[in-house]
Amino acid sequence: MPDRKSYHMTPGEFRRHGRAVVDWIADYQERVEALPVLSRVKPGEVRAQLPPHPPEHGEPFERMMEDVERVLLPGLTHWQSPNFFAYFPANASGPAILGELLSAGLGAQGMLWATGPACTELETRVMDWLVELMGLPAKFRSDGPGGGVIQDSASSAALCALLAARERATGFAVNARGGDGRLTAYASTQTHSSVLKGVRVAGIGDRNFRAVETDDACALRPNLLREAVRRDRAEGKVPFFVCATVGTTSSNGMDPLGPIAAICREEGLWLHVDGAMAGTAAVCPEFRRFLDGLDGADSYCFNPHKWMFTNFDCDCFWVADRAVLIRTLSILPEYLKNKATESGAVIDYRDWHIPLGRRFRALKLWFVLRHYGVQGLRHHVREHVRLAQDFAGWVRASEDFELAADPPLNLVCFRHRGGDDCNRALLERLNDSGRLFLTHTVLGGKFTLRLCVGQTHTEERHVEAAWTAIRAAAR
Ligand SMILES: Cc1ncc(COP(=O)(O)O)c(C=O)c1O
Repeated sequence: MPDRKSYHMTPGEFRRHGRAVVDWIADYQERVEALPVLSRVKPGEVRAQLPPHPPEHGEPFERMMEDVERVLLPGLTHWQSPNFFAYFPANASGPAILGELLSAGLGAQGMLWATGPACTELETRVMDWLVELMGLPAKFRSDGPGGGVIQDSASSAALCALLAARERATGFAVNARGGDGRLTAYASTQTHSSVLKGVRVAGIGDRNFRAVETDDACALRPNLLREAVRRDRAEGKVPFFVCATVGTTSSNGMDPLGPIAAICREEGLWLHVDGAMAGTAAVCPEFRRFLDGLDGADSYCFNPHKWMFTNFDCDCFWVADRAVLIRTLSILPEYLKNKATESGAVIDYRDWHIPLGRRFRALKLWFVLRHYGVQGLRHHVREHVRLAQDFAGWVRASEDFELAADPPLNLVCFRHRGGDDCNRALLERLNDSGRLFLTHTVLGGKFTLRLCVGQTHTEERHVEAAWTAIRAAAR
């Protein structure tokens, strides 16, 4: 007799629990505003409430959801609260969450075209849509030599750019025999730490990374970049890679892409542009000026998982020449060979990033684009920028506070005039209140508060309440 015993969740149970989970998420969306934004748990407090040993016997689903509510929820900082103004947002939306659920439900693997033709072809189409929607250079479209791929993160995108750049610069010699320690990479002092991490992972070495100084607007100074490249060349180094940032993490500084691209062209360097958060602004034509010069870049990425209503993870990465990226990363073992790949007529996205397996991420992005449409995306991005600019106006008009930098988009860097200790105390008091969550940076040597408007449901009343709370806490 075959053993028919099964512990699996039946489709009927799945239907019932699934509805309960969707209801729970909808309730969460309605009540998240009232929860303390920054979690108040102490280190170890969540773990102490979880049993030290795994359950011997399966438990009812309801009990798991009770623990989500009782144990996990207080241990979460609520990134989806409209009062979340910290770091850069990692926003989400109904269509994205449902796309994610569907992706898990389908459980498809799109590593090869053959293992999920729709995963691949939808992704290609969506990435081409974004080129059009955001006014990106046509060379990133997949119908020429370029193309786009969805990565998990901007960190991975930077790593892939570094690897492809490394191979282009050395005629694929590092792949073949390892590096000789002469390659040098460049970015500004304000560049995200993921680029230095990529430099390490790609085997370039910290000592071969040059952090170029910035100007008063926290933007890379092209003349210093040129000097650094020439100095390195004179010393026998091999400059190969520059990362420019559109919207630095500290202050939304905008590196001047045109002059940087010109240097890269003259010197034969790969230019990668990181638009992790601010890149989303390009859905609005009036904010595209920050991307002037992007047509001189070899690669570009931005994160819909920051500001484009698409839950983590989802990074869009484009290259001008996909052949270099593919040749850098492609290894074709026997067990992956198939007719479609051999025909050369399909994209196998496994060759466009580090992992082999890949989730169906394009689904949630497609849902977002179809749900909001171009108009909807523009509306909400414009609203966020307007709210941040209103906030900046209130700071400008106040006697007690000052702007630390002119906010180009949706991030306002400001401080109380009372000095570093006063701002530190203010930040702590505000975050302890649970009513909002802000983070800080240091600009011009001074402790600076950051307020970033980008959570999906942040409205005027939330930004007004934040300003009221900030002034009250300062008093
Ligand atoms: C400018 C910039 N680049 C890269 C990153 C890294 O993003 P990810 O978490 O997608 O690797 C961030 C994260 O905040 C960022 O602000």
